[in-house]
Amino acid sequence: MKLLVIGSGGREHALCWKLAKSPLVDRLYCAPGNAGIADAATLVPLAQTDIDGIVAFAEDNAIDFVVVGPEQPLVLGLVDRLEAVGIPAFGPSAAAARLEGSKGFMKDLCRRHDIPTARYRRLSDAAVAHRYLDEVAIPVVIKADGLAAGKGVTVATTRAMAEQAIDEALQDNRFGAAGAEIVIEEFLEGEEVSFFVLTDGVDAAPLASAADHKRAFDGDQGPNTGGMGAFSPAPALTPELEADVMTRIIHPTIRAMAAAGCPFKGVLYAGLMLTPNGPKLIEYNVRFGDPECQVLMLRLTSDLLPVLLAARNGRLGDVPMEWDDGHAISVVMAAKGYPNDKLQSGPINGLG
Ligand code: AMP
Ligand code: GLY
Repeated sequence: MKLLVIGSGGREHALCWKLAKSPLVDRLYCAPGNAGIADAATLVPLAQTDIDGIVAFAEDNAIDFVVVGPEQPLVLGLVDRLEAVGIPAFGPSAAAARLEGSKGFMKDLCRRHDIPTARYRRLSDAAVAHRYLDEVAIPVVIKADGLAAGKGVTVATTRAMAEQAIDEALQDNRFGAAGAEIVIEEFLEGEEVSFFVLTDGVDAAPLASAADHKRAFDGDQGPNTGGMGAFSPAPALTPELEADVMTRIIHPTIRAMAAAGCPFKGVLYAGLMLTPNGPKLIEYNVRFGDPECQVLMLRLTSDLLPVLLAARNGRLGDVPMEWDDGHAISVVMAAKGYPNDKLQSGPINGLG
C-alpha cells in the first residue's frame, strides 16, 4: 500500500517509524515531516493546513490510506475532503473533531448525556462573563472555545486573573476567532491522568496507558509545556479505573456522537481529573498525544496499520493489538527557552 502521514512532530516520526515496519506498506510519504522523519518516509513539502495541496498530492500519487497526526487538519476537514474523493483516511471528520475544536460543543454533549465533567457556562460577552464570576468559586478556569495552540486555558487563582483572561479573549482578541466565545468552568481538584482509546465509531479499544511530563524543567519546575517527555505504562490508570472511565465517559461519548450523526473514528484522548467523586472529563483531544504516541509505538508489538485501517473501516473488533510488557520512556530535546521564547531551530547533537 501507499501511505501518507500528515504532520511534522515527534508523534508523526513515531507513527512513520512504526508504519515503515509493516509488511503491508510499499511506499510511505510524510507531509511536511521533519529531518528525522526523512529516515523512514519520503518528505512532501506541503503544510499540514494545506488541505487542497494534500488532497491533490494524494490523488496524483494514488495514495491508498492517509494517517492524520495533528488536530488542526482534522478540525479543518482533511478527512472529509479525502474521503469525498475516495481516499480512505484515519482520523475523525471535521464534525467529530469538534470534540477538541470546540470546548463548548464538548461540554454541551457531556451535559446532554450525563458524562461527568466540570460545571460550566458558555459566554461571548465580556460584561456578562464578568457578572458570572459573582456566581462561581475561585479558582475558576477560563477557556477559549477553539484551538489556541495550547495557550487557551487559564486556571485563575484570583478574580483579577479571571477578569484578565476574559478580557484577553473577548475584548483583546488574543486568540482571534478561537476566543470569540469562552467557557468558564468549575476548578476540579485531584490527580490528572490521560486515557487513550482507538474507536471505529461503535467499538472502542483502550490503548496502553501513557502519561506526559508537563513542566519544562527538572524536578517538576518551570512553565507548562505540551510535554517534555512521556512514559508508559502509567500506574495511576488501574484496571478498575479504566473500566469505570470506559463505562461512564468513553462509551457514552461514542454513542452520543453516533446519535448526533457525527460518529467519532480515530484516537480519542481523554484528559481526566480523578476527583473524590470519581473521574471527570477535563478535555478531549481527537488524536494521539505527543509525546505519548512515541512510547505507545515503542510498546506496540503488533502491526499498527491493520488496526488503523480497522478503525477507519468499522472493523475494530477484528484486529487485536498486542503490547510489550516492558516500560518505555521518551525525552523531548527542546530549543533553549522553550516554551516561552520564540522557537529557534538548530541541530540537535548527542543522539545515539
Ligand atoms: P486543557 O487544555 O483543557 O487540558 O487544559 C490545560 C490544563 O489546565 C489541564 O491539563 C489541567 O491541568 C488544567 N485544567 C483545565 N480545566 C481544568 C479544570 N476544570 N479544573 C482544574 N484544572 C483544569
Ligand atoms: N501531550 C499533550 C498533548 O498531546 O496534547
